[in-house]
Amino acid sequence: MVVEKIKKANVAILISGRGSNMEALIRASKDPRYPAKIALVISNKNNAAGIEIAKKYKIKTAIILKEQYNSRIDYDRALSSNLLNENIEYICAAGFMRILSEEFIDQWWNKIINIHPSLLPSYKGLNTHQRVLDDRTKVTGCSVHIVRKELDNGPIIIQAAVPVEENDTEEILSKRVLKMEHKIYPYSLMLLTSKKITINNDIVKYDDKSSLDNFLLSL
Ligand code: GRF
Repeated sequence: MVVEKIKKANVAILISGRGSNMEALIRASKDPRYPAKIALVISNKNNAAGIEIAKKYKIKTAIILKEQYNSRIDYDRALSSNLLNENIEYICAAGFMRILSEEFIDQWWNKIINIHPSLLPSYKGLNTHQRVLDDRTKVTGCSVHIVRKELDNGPIIIQAAVPVEENDTEEILSKRVLKMEHKIYPYSLMLLTSKKITINNDIVKYDDKSSLDNFLLSL
């Protein structure tokens, strides 16, 4: 079979730790039909395990530590110039434990996406799974959204619901949600980079709602 070569968008992933969502994105991007190429992985932590994973896939990596800069703005400007040097067009935050400045978000308007392990706007912030368990909630999930200046906020691209079972621990629940994160993040990046969504008045509209419905049914 001859696979037509498509022009892939250049994407950077920002991480701080394990990098399992990063790996899911990298794996998806290996498909010649996938519209994005992971060109750069940046960590704000020296010891992020994800950096070693990215190297294994021969992806360019960089570590930018906050200690090297006097302010958040300076840090974010350095981050931006690293991204521009590699001709990055889109950014995926994947467990990146840093708040991005308004200036940075404006500069990359509608080009940064994030994954959060809850059904936003519920359970923004940290320790989502424990809070879900404490509240005896029956359903949780994960969300991919466009990044805006308020934490874990912005137009939602895809959400997937995950049941909370009676004897769940934080570890069990987080694993169940993570499995779903690894499916919806690559799909969301595909929608964004192939321009199959438009963002109007901070609402995501799909060009082809029926393919999305089929994808969601397949989860
Ligand atoms: C994921 O649960 C993600 O939703 C959240 O941070 C975690 C990162 O995990 N933002 P990993 O580094 O992708 O394995």
